Amino acid sequence: MKVRLQKLIARTGLASRRKADDLIAAGRVAVNGRVAVPGETADPEIDRITVDGAPLGAPTGKVYLLLNKPIGYVTSARDPQGRPVVTELVESVSARLFPIGRLDLNTEGLLLMTNDGELAHLLMHPRHQVEKTYLVRIRGRLDEKDRNLLQEGILLEDGKTAPARVGHVRTGGSHTWFHLTIREGRNRQVRRMCEALGLQVSRLKRIGVGFLDLGDLPPGRFRHLSSEEVDRLKKL
Ligand code: URA
Repeated sequence: MKVRLQKLIARTGLASRRKADDLIAAGRVAVNGRVAVPGETADPEIDRITVDGAPLGAPTGKVYLLLNKPIGYVTSARDPQGRPVVTELVESVSARLFPIGRLDLNTEGLLLMTNDGELAHLLMHPRHQVEKTYLVRIRGRLDEKDRNLLQEGILLEDGKTAPARVGHVRTGGSHTWFHLTIREGRNRQVRRMCEALGLQVSRLKRIGVGFLDLGDLPPGRFRHLSSEEVDRLKKL
């Protein structure tokens, strides 16, 4: 049965009807690969409806976003000091979203946001140890000894870190960039691991969580996860 697109979108919890209209007007909704027009109807049983390229999910009311957190935003719903918070960046979505895990004020990159408490709990549980990959920029060079120490484990005040992976090491000018993949999620872990070796972190960006990549999403922007991505996350 054909139903107005704004109603179909609102039913999935992706956006309110009014916000769904905005999405359609902004050209972010497509039906069978063609950009939808305001007032259009579609049959969810037959037509392929996408928002920002991701197929419209089942009407669960659950929302799953991948946000590129900019530097200077607090990973919280509110901040007593009045600094910008990540929930401000997803205000266009009419659901009470909270972040899964946290990134420091000065860390940027991939942050998942949802209103699905069960999935958030699952992903944050230390037992599940989802891999998180960071792009780290340090002053100077990363020598072989420090690279091995990062990988083997470093004694921090809350115990030795679990084995990690270092890759994509590139030195240019006065800085070195590298990827660090960890499974734990201790507070300020990457910065503390580097500090323990005397390495000065000048930039930190999370570029991957499990199978999810930040891709080329600009800072401050988000995308909805597809239902396939949500299913995979639940199986991690
Ligand atoms: N490690 C850090 O040091 N900071 C983050 O925000 C995330 C991981």
